[in-house]
Amino acid sequence: MTSRMPQAGELDPIETASRDEISALQLERLKWSVRHTYDNVEPYRKKCEAKGVHPDDLKCLADLGKFPFMTKSDLRDHYPFGLFAVPRTKLARLHASSGTTGKSVVVGYTKNDLDNWANVVARSIRAAGGRAGDMVHVAYGYGMFTGGLGAHYGVERAGCCAVPMSGGQTEKQVQQIMDFKPEIIMVTPSYSLVIAEEFERLGIKPEEISLKVGIFGAEPWGEGMRSEIERKLGIDAIDIYGLTEVMGPGVACECIETKDGPVIWEDHFYPEIIDPETGEVLPDGEEGELVFTSLTKEAFPVIRYRTRDLTRLLAPTSRSFRRIGKITGRSDDMLIIRGVNVFPTQIEEQILRDPRLSGNYQVVVTRDGHLDNLEVRCELQREMSGKLAPAEIQAIGKELQHRIKTIIGVSTKITVMEFDAIPRTQVGKAKRVLDERPKQN
Ligand code: DLL
Repeated sequence: MTSRMPQAGELDPIETASRDEISALQLERLKWSVRHTYDNVEPYRKKCEAKGVHPDDLKCLADLGKFPFMTKSDLRDHYPFGLFAVPRTKLARLHASSGTTGKSVVVGYTKNDLDNWANVVARSIRAAGGRAGDMVHVAYGYGMFTGGLGAHYGVERAGCCAVPMSGGQTEKQVQQIMDFKPEIIMVTPSYSLVIAEEFERLGIKPEEISLKVGIFGAEPWGEGMRSEIERKLGIDAIDIYGLTEVMGPGVACECIETKDGPVIWEDHFYPEIIDPETGEVLPDGEEGELVFTSLTKEAFPVIRYRTRDLTRLLAPTSRSFRRIGKITGRSDDMLIIRGVNVFPTQIEEQILRDPRLSGNYQVVVTRDGHLDNLEVRCELQREMSGKLAPAEIQAIGKELQHRIKTIIGVSTKITVMEFDAIPRTQVGKAKRVLDERPKQN
């Protein structure tokens, strides 16, 4: 494990620079990014005008706190390209993630953006103990999700060999790992345990598996899961964080020598922690909502983007950049089911498309072994209730299941109940989500 620690000469100079150098670079880049966004993204310029702020007001890093936030609903309101800061002829790639309704959130990258992204992912791989010449099995999904392709180009940039396996086909994953003997795997932590169980089933012991390092993210996981993965696969398990709106994987990544929370690549992403209720900026160390401002992005710059992830900013340790603590929850109702982001409102939208169903529903999340299960309980309209044959009710459930799978991308168990079977709340909001998963430690 220590032999995989990067040597001083292998790091980017900024990773070990003084805080003063980092702040100076951040301020210079921040001024550019705010100006670029103000000049080229009309909806953001309007927000600034409404708040009475102008890019010239940005004289020090703390002045950023005067600027308006960007949120997921801004992306929805300006779907698909309304917040892009470059003409579409300058785009080199698009990615997307879940919106709160059927329309996804679309993000774009210029050639320079892709270059910077590959660099921060390569830096993350080095932090995790990867080095040129390693083979990396990428089991994040390829496609509109940023996980697969984001990891992929970082692997190549780090001088490693990418195995673009994507998700699913567990038996084939295991077979390829045994045949190709990769040193590194990049995958969601929950799926890594499914792979580990397949190794166990085949009677293959951790010491017979070639993997040395796993780089895991896209969903919350705790120290208990880290030790389980490390024990079952015989590897060092490293936490990588990111989100589509800010870039994708590689906004922050842990270092193998300390494993004490993802280091934010602060030369590209400027973090703040805010009180989710008031929006006030909180001091480092206090728990609140993580907010990011991109410092170098051209196509889709974000200024004070509210991630809705709850965590803390921690002091630098193995690099000069600050770290984030574990993500302890969300300030919205987004669920992450087997690495797929799901908003209850997306499910509601699909239920409401069927006139035979009442709008009353409940989403129940449970954990079966290492994997999350999603059950959607919905109910028939009053006039249908008691009048349909079991086969008809079953067909309603099947249709809904199919729509949710194709549109949202998540497998569900659907339970269609009679009218009034789901408890109504007498006061306040309906309790739509029952999250019965054990808490991460
Ligand atoms: O999940 C990007 C990614 C891919 C990150 C592969 C790491 C590895 P989204 O689909 O937009 O992007 O989901 C972003 O996932 O706001 C967090 O809530 C959650 N998340 C991502 N990484 C972690 C992590 C990708 N390491 C959302 N720990 C984020 C906890 C994470 N939560």
